[in-house]
Amino acid sequence: MDDGTMDDGAMPYQNRLALFPLTTRIQGDGDGARLTIGECDLAELAALYGTPLYLYDRATMDAAADAYRQALARHYPAAGGVTYAGKAFLCVAAAQWVIEQGFHLDCTGAGELHIAEQAGVARERIIMHGVNKSREELAAGLAKAGVIVVDNVTELSALCELSQALATALPALWLRVKPGVAVDTHAYRQTGQEQSKFGMAPDEVLEAVAICRQRGWPLSGLHFHQGSHFHNPAPIGPALETVLDLTAHLAQVHQWQPETLCVGGGWGVAYHEDDLPQPDIDHYVAFVAAALQAGCQRRGLRLPRLQFEPGRSLVARAGVALYRVGATKQAGTRRWVLIDGGMADNPRPALYGARYSALPVQAPQRPWAGTASLAGPYCESGDVLIEELPLPNLAPGELIAIPASGAYHLMMGSNYNGARKPAVLWLDASRANLIQRREAVTSLTARDEPLPQAATDRSLPCPN
Ligand SMILES: Cc1ncc(COP(=O)(O)O)c(C=O)c1O
Repeated sequence: MDDGTMDDGAMPYQNRLALFPLTTRIQGDGDGARLTIGECDLAELAALYGTPLYLYDRATMDAAADAYRQALARHYPAAGGVTYAGKAFLCVAAAQWVIEQGFHLDCTGAGELHIAEQAGVARERIIMHGVNKSREELAAGLAKAGVIVVDNVTELSALCELSQALATALPALWLRVKPGVAVDTHAYRQTGQEQSKFGMAPDEVLEAVAICRQRGWPLSGLHFHQGSHFHNPAPIGPALETVLDLTAHLAQVHQWQPETLCVGGGWGVAYHEDDLPQPDIDHYVAFVAAALQAGCQRRGLRLPRLQFEPGRSLVARAGVALYRVGATKQAGTRRWVLIDGGMADNPRPALYGARYSALPVQAPQRPWAGTASLAGPYCESGDVLIEELPLPNLAPGELIAIPASGAYHLMMGSNYNGARKPAVLWLDASRANLIQRREAVTSLTARDEPLPQAATDRSLPCPN
């Protein structure tokens, strides 16, 4: 029983290591053994920076980026590229990593455009997304983006009116197509189905292309994204068929073909040992590249530039969340391990039942002692990061690490119960650099104004 296995045949702890960044190791033996990433000792980092603490392993991000680059070179004979979906994890340092990789950056809304600008991302590398972009956001897109992905015909008109009103040239325009097929994932992460709120059905795309062609607007691409976190690329086949039928029609009627076809992102990662082996980026890219080439050949279409738009598969595995155990509790048959973070830094389990795994930082190879549930400190019974996972006994003060924490945690997090956003470290071999400070308590009141007193009432009169 010292190999982490349980009598009930549960997975050994070694499988959990395969969920962590590529450079994760267990250093030392017995009770002195500790988890490390690169040459960084997680317990030391927690002591220095406090918990909850988020860590990003550069080597793991670089390896995923290389996997996309190499797969495109291997499987697609025409031009191709990668756009990093900033919604997965964006801050100045992450955007600067995107610059280093030579990738494009997908920004949703004016806020993410601001981060990209602060990081120094070149305008032509910025692709602006968003459903129901406000006038203010469209103006930010006109000023800062190299491509705007148009979600609907109303937005197309609003954008073009605004560009005239502001006397600003339109950037390249892509149209977001709704192919009518979603990928196999949680309903909240499906976006390609007919009833989705995102994008345009083929008929609406025809209308949008006609408008762009008549007015001479700089239309250069089509885009679709069928959903997020899938392990089987098969549904991309029928979606491509729909988009290529549409393209063939556009080529005939409007003598227009997209220079770029962006197939979105969504390739999954392993969050739990039951999800292993890790989904293979090469397999995904090969599938899409083959389907696109075959579809274009059948219709006599030239190959477009093939653009992928991944977020999760670039950063999720690189990220680890570190928490400290505050107390444990036995509640009937359930063993609770209470930790110092939860739904405020990772709302995914509460939002769509996302399943995670974990290892203690100290002596991670200890035998398991039945199952335990990891709950956070927030005032919601749904603030449970992990339900019933085989774990060793954990004492108050111990550290626990949750792998696959790099995507859609901090970006979707909140200040619930006055929670402050955690610090984020960038791990590069033996170096750990702070890329986001822990949020200061003062930022919780930074937007606030006091309740007006009669003498200093600054409220606006209400219209009657
Ligand atoms: C338009 C678009 N592109 C790309 C992505 C990235 O998906 P993922 O992080 O799963 O790769 C998303 C995610 O929601 C998206 O909405």
